[in-house]
Amino acid sequence: MQLYTLKSQVEISINKTISLKKTIGLVPTMGSLHHGHLSLIKKAVNSCDLVWVSIFVNPTQFNNKQDLNNYPKNIKKDLEMISKISKNINVFNPKISEMYESKLKTEDFDFQNLDKELEGKYRNNHFKGVGTIVSKLFNLFKPTKAFFGEKDYQQTRIIDRLIKVKNFQTELVICPTIRGTNGLALSSRNNLLSLENKEKSAIIYKTLIYCKKNLPKSSFQKIYNNCKKEINSLNDFELEYLEIVDNETLKKVKKISANKPFRIFICVLVNGVRLIDNILVK
Ligand code: PAF
Repeated sequence: MQLYTLKSQVEISINKTISLKKTIGLVPTMGSLHHGHLSLIKKAVNSCDLVWVSIFVNPTQFNNKQDLNNYPKNIKKDLEMISKISKNINVFNPKISEMYESKLKTEDFDFQNLDKELEGKYRNNHFKGVGTIVSKLFNLFKPTKAFFGEKDYQQTRIIDRLIKVKNFQTELVICPTIRGTNGLALSSRNNLLSLENKEKSAIIYKTLIYCKKNLPKSSFQKIYNNCKKEINSLNDFELEYLEIVDNETLKKVKKISANKPFRIFICVLVNGVRLIDNILVK
């Protein structure tokens, strides 16, 4: 495994790879890696000639300073985990000044309002920050394929749009959510939970399953009220949102129709830690 910290070094390596007509896989991450990330990296290793993992906690996608400061970091462990997968992976771990010049400037994108739904309602400019950093990474690595997790499904819709508006020649690969034994979707933020709250957070995925099962028979309002009551009755737990949205536009679905897939999204704050998850209903 080779570690790079400078864009100029990466550029030299990428130009060489491109001149050899080899495919490049990119797995963008903010570090504090878990098995969800590892599954993306493994998929990349299996389908691309050369794999790059970027580890960069992107300041412009945090609308809350405390959230940014609290974001878990463990670069030593991250590098150990990556090198166990394959020795043939490059890691890019730049400083903030390498990715942003003096000012933390973000770009404006036409995300066709995908950025205004769900997380976008609660995290001002979050997707503008995501778009900005992913665009910088795509310009640098020129990846043949880029790998993202389905847990952040809204983010994958944003990246899909980014690829179109910026005309990137990159294939978006969405990989399934990896869950713990209690069903909780793996997330770096889970490291911020107490052991007890981590166990209790099983309710998040259980809620999605419950909604999926009961939606055909019961009204969503009724289901929503039940779920909210149950989640909010737990100490430290607060339901931020539970929504049924169109699988592509992410707009709220008012009437469920049999032949149109939709997705149920949930966000729960557990002692202030933001946990999100979603499930597809076909
Ligand atoms: O999903 C993440 O970890 C981040 O949003 C990403 C895609 C690495 C951009 O900073």
